[in-house]
Amino acid sequence: MKPSVYRQLPSPTYVMDEELLIRNLERLNDVRERAEVKIILAFKAFAMWPVFDRLAPYLDGATASSLNEARLCYEEMNALTHAYSPGYIPSEFEQIVKYSSHITFNSLSQFEKYKGTVQNALHPVSMGLRINPEYAEIGVDLYNPTAKGSRLGVEKELLKNGLPEGVEGLHFHALCENNSYVLEKVLTNVEEYFGHLLPHLKWINLGGGHLITHKHYDVEHLIGLLKGFKEKYDLEIILEPGAAIAYQTGYLVSTVLDIVENHGVKTAIIDASFTCHMPDTLEMPYRPGIIGATDPVEGRPTYRIGGVSCLAGDCLSEYSFQEELRIGDRLIFLDMMQYTMVKTTTFNGIGLPSIAMLEKDGYVRIFKNFGYEDFKSRLG
Ligand SMILES: Cc1ncc(COP(=O)(O)O)c(C=O)c1O
Repeated sequence: MKPSVYRQLPSPTYVMDEELLIRNLERLNDVRERAEVKIILAFKAFAMWPVFDRLAPYLDGATASSLNEARLCYEEMNALTHAYSPGYIPSEFEQIVKYSSHITFNSLSQFEKYKGTVQNALHPVSMGLRINPEYAEIGVDLYNPTAKGSRLGVEKELLKNGLPEGVEGLHFHALCENNSYVLEKVLTNVEEYFGHLLPHLKWINLGGGHLITHKHYDVEHLIGLLKGFKEKYDLEIILEPGAAIAYQTGYLVSTVLDIVENHGVKTAIIDASFTCHMPDTLEMPYRPGIIGATDPVEGRPTYRIGGVSCLAGDCLSEYSFQEELRIGDRLIFLDMMQYTMVKTTTFNGIGLPSIAMLEKDGYVRIFKNFGYEDFKSRLG
């Protein structure tokens, strides 16, 4: 994104770059077509609905984790969703069914509780169970759903005698920004622990975490793996990545408000917040790129970057710049589309960043500015 573009934007603003989005979608569509699988968007990662019309030609819809996401799929994607939640809320379930083509249950008890409602739906809805394949390569426990004792998915022991009647699909989610070689190992476990169920299925959902749009992702290996599995068991394969769709497709534009110094450490305080607007930078933790900045280099102007909330840890460790930063400078964080907009808070009453898109022809379209009512309406 050129300075002429980001200088004219309100600050802070999330900016989707349409060209980069389409590039990701083309890569995903290539897998979808050649492997003959379905690829749906996991809204939990990215649900910027004003760009859904761009997604439609390349994807098969979306997966929803709640009634709100299911309704968004129905209203803004014009599609029935694949629903999955660790626990459905009784007062919402009938409506979720209305918006869904597939419903996956996290436990046998949830399946037993709700199967009658699904079977009585006005349109056919296919039911599935989430399983725990007990294999993952995820460094951070917070993101690992496959650990022993995990609340996510049915354990192998409970399905050793087969599937309950009415279950047509299985679902697992065991990857986090992984490649197809990790998927292959997860599938080996799925076959070992749940292999006796696979010939009876109509579909299997391989969850998210496939970082297919990463430049080093081995797409040919993935396609071979998917085709092999599909042929072996004669079932439909569904992938539901979130991050991969929005990966490296946009920015968070912010502005330097002040520069403070303490014991020789300089911090540039910006008008955005890591805890409110970029939570993965603290949770994963994930160190984002900043246009024009590098990891610390001795002799160069070097700053910690401080968020605008009161949280002491609302900051990133040092980056170096070519020149001294000045109040009013713009800082542009890279790769800020996934798990950002969907997770924002108004902690401290801090305003939410505007939402915009840099269109292919260079025009910047602002979809949304937020104000006092957005803060207030969440509190009473
Ligand atoms: C069940 C399920 N599906 C899909 C996803 C999307 O994963 P990602 O955004 O890493 O592709 C997640 C993420 O937590 C998930 O829990």
